[in-house]
Amino acid sequence: MSKSTASLLATACAAVLLFALTTSGRAPAQGEGKLGAAMEELGAAVKTLQAAVKAPEELEKALPEIWKAQRAALDAKSELPKQVSEMADEKARLKAQLAYRTQMQDLMRALLDVEAAMIAGDAKKADKALRQADNLKSAGHGQFRPRDGR
Ligand code: HEM
Repeated sequence: MSKSTASLLATACAAVLLFALTTSGRAPAQGEGKLGAAMEELGAAVKTLQAAVKAPEELEKALPEIWKAQRAALDAKSELPKQVSEMADEKARLKAQLAYRTQMQDLMRALLDVEAAMIAGDAKKADKALRQADNLKSAGHGQFRPRDGR
């Protein structure tokens, strides 16, 4: 092995080791964990749905998107925001946990309403229920999403 290949190999090993050391055992930062991934998926599905509910002929075709949104909401519901799980005061943590789960249930109900309207071919009603979900997003983000400029 040449000297330069050996030094390249050593640098690569050091980089891998450094990555493993800095990422292992560390709580996921905002946007990195399961909750962030579920929200990302929810956001993408809702965006597609917002366009679909404007065109009644798109409702049937867009059903897989509402199911995707529901699955993502379910995934998000079984996680907790870092802001909640890291609360030191137990009483406050349990209260925030309950508030988060209750809001996620409201979101699931709104997404079920969207689906019911889509199945019934009622674009206007689907649009209204989707707006309701969007309102829950604003409230949920205001309460549980750390203010970091995003
Ligand atoms: C239609 C409804 C919603 C949509 C489309 C939505 C969308 C998103 C998106 C796109 C993100 C950024 C993901 C990332 O960091 O990469 C996010 C993050 C987040 N959302 Fe939502 N959201 C919705 C409802 C809610 C509700 C109801 C709550 C709370 C009850 C909530 C709590 C959070 C939290 C805590 C984060 C930060 C997650 C993390 O990265 O740790 N969201 N959401």
